[in-house]
Amino acid sequence: MKRKLFLIIALLMVASLVLSACTSKDPAPVNNGGDKPTGETIKIGGILEMTGNIASFGQSSRNGIVLAFEEINAKGGVLGKQIEFVLEDNKSIQVESATAAQKLIQQNGVAAILGAVASSNTLAAAPIAQDAKIPLISPSSTNPAVTEVGDYIFRSCFIDPFQGVVMSKFAIENLGAKTAAIMTDNNSDYSIGLTEVFKEAFTAAGGKIVSEVAYVSGDTDFNSILTSVKNAGPEVVFIPGYYDSVGLILDQAKNNVGFSSDIVFLGTDGWDSPTLFDLAGDSANGTYFSNHYSPDADSAIVKDFIASYKAKFNGAIPDALAATAYDAAYMIAAAIESAGTTDAAALRDAIAAVQLEGVSGNIKLNEKRDPVKSAVVIKIDGGAQTYYSTVEPN
Ligand code: PHE
Repeated sequence: MKRKLFLIIALLMVASLVLSACTSKDPAPVNNGGDKPTGETIKIGGILEMTGNIASFGQSSRNGIVLAFEEINAKGGVLGKQIEFVLEDNKSIQVESATAAQKLIQQNGVAAILGAVASSNTLAAAPIAQDAKIPLISPSSTNPAVTEVGDYIFRSCFIDPFQGVVMSKFAIENLGAKTAAIMTDNNSDYSIGLTEVFKEAFTAAGGKIVSEVAYVSGDTDFNSILTSVKNAGPEVVFIPGYYDSVGLILDQAKNNVGFSSDIVFLGTDGWDSPTLFDLAGDSANGTYFSNHYSPDADSAIVKDFIASYKAKFNGAIPDALAATAYDAAYMIAAAIESAGTTDAAALRDAIAAVQLEGVSGNIKLNEKRDPVKSAVVIKIDGGAQTYYSTVEPN
């Protein structure tokens, strides 16, 4: 009996050792806001896509924010207090984004909110923040309507009228394309908005849109819409969508529908996820998309950021989500510091005036509370993202 008990205890000890080894080795993003600081804190809420169809966006954004707040707290925090990040998972859907905003404001009493990622989700949360006069900064929602919600709503990324034109120009000037097809996610304000921008810019430059098809997020069989796109014979196919659908589309285009490699697939920031490669494999090679940042950038601030991020998150290279979220976290901290208070109206004015050299570019907001920043074009080559070019705003 005693021996049996001993054996069980020994086994349990081994198991707990194995488990703790896993957790310490696996810094894989978890669903929380990092270590909770002690003492009186300044609470900043987060609304992020931690689970659901675009979970890699939320996980990377969370990591960027946690890293920034840790750095800021290590230097003494803001106004002599530590920042506490209170994270809510919106499960990648709109209704949970709205619920999260209510909860953070009413129950947690946050001074400001960071999030969400997908424009549709931010559009669901922003009116609640605006009504409560709690500043909200989306790190990555690019649809223009987001900041139009009101004077308490900001972002740290460029907007789609810029990004869509970048890709239209790229198609025409770099690829010499005269015909394009567009595949739109009809469930996404982001995708619908970018479709309009691209269509207008491409046609204005003399190009012709030869096919327009739609899908909704969650679809898994794209064979029939891809067949109609292929039959229209476009030189480029523009897909302003998220990686979960785009990964499947690229795979099915090459492997089922027989798209030749001369037809170039083009996309936008929503393609930025390691999962795209899991879904598309080699079919992603030879495609291009616009993004906020490239880890290949040759600047000291980006190099430092990558080194700290890798050290904290088990060697992971930060993507654009991590970069824009890291910048949004620094924006809010800088604004609280310069306002000297978390009083909402003063904080709002301070955010509007923030100027910051960010890892995703320089941030200075225009009168619409949108930064005017450069974009990068990424080429997918050999199963990896490679830096192609930088496009400055006009
Ligand atoms: N721009 C996307 C949106 O507005 C979100 C996104 C940003 C996705 C950056 C990936 C990278 O919906």
